[in-house]
Amino acid sequence: MRHFITLNDINADEFNRMLDISASIKEQLKQGNYSQPLKDKVLAMIFEKQSLRTRVSFETGMYQLGGNSIYLGAEIGFGKRESIKDIAEVLSSMVNIIMFRGMKHQSVVELSRYSSVPVINGLTDEAHPCQALADMFTLREIFGELRGRKLAWVGDANNVAVSLLRASAKLGMKFSVAAPKKFQFDPKKIDTLIGGKNNATDGYEIELTDDPFKAVKNSIAVYTDVWVSMGQEAEEEERKKILNPYQVNAKLMSAARKDAIFLHCLPARRGLEVTDEVMDSSQSKVILQAENRLHAQKGLLVWLSGNL
Ligand code: CP
Ligand code: NVA
Repeated sequence: MRHFITLNDINADEFNRMLDISASIKEQLKQGNYSQPLKDKVLAMIFEKQSLRTRVSFETGMYQLGGNSIYLGAEIGFGKRESIKDIAEVLSSMVNIIMFRGMKHQSVVELSRYSSVPVINGLTDEAHPCQALADMFTLREIFGELRGRKLAWVGDANNVAVSLLRASAKLGMKFSVAAPKKFQFDPKKIDTLIGGKNNATDGYEIELTDDPFKAVKNSIAVYTDVWVSMGQEAEEEERKKILNPYQVNAKLMSAARKDAIFLHCLPARRGLEVTDEVMDSSQSKVILQAENRLHAQKGLLVWLSGNL
């Protein structure tokens, strides 16, 4: 039995295998002719934070795979009403997979420790592996082989950036991160974040810079996210001030490759980390990117359930 807490839980072959399953699932859905390998299976989804894409993609995904899902929000009093161990054991006795979106990364680690069914991390303060899985699916769909290609991240080196770093290491991409010092990765921690150098494959390179133009040069995709993630609201004013020079606008996009795309995990704060002009441009693939959460996570669900 496997969990999906960070991308370090899977190796490069498994990552590619999952992307292949997702591609075939997407193809079958588009042809209106698909099997239901998760018939009668149930996914419990715990949400401590808000969501549009994660909830809808998992719920729709389970339905299309022949199963069902249960949304568990504030009413279960996660972390207050009973212990995480008890929640994990009770849910494991009734459902087949658990998805958790929450405040502290340690909570999903603890859930997985006591769960006897697979646990999926649907975002914590430290990681968003489902997002990076789907994003690599999107990049592969548009550009084909990703090895040696450059992905640029501009802005806060946050939970999404950590997961993209791990994904880049696994698939052998160059990952360039432009951020102000305060919100940049600690270079000494990069190897630990990717689970050790052995986890990287040929073609992987990491570049940390404070210059967005340097980061986007020769990149096939420019990626940004909100400057204030869920749970960081108290730091809003400071973050907006420090990250202001890191807005993705048309001038920055024009410094990337001619065929470069713009990515954002969404939700976006238009006018802050990205301009309307870029969000609504033909380079922007954010809606396809959101749609691909559905297909990529269906691949993940099928893979985790062992029902290949
Ligand atoms: N990108 C993403 O996870 O979106 P939601 O927060 O709406 O689920
Ligand atoms: N970094 C953002 C991602 C939202 C999908 C957050 O954690 O709020």
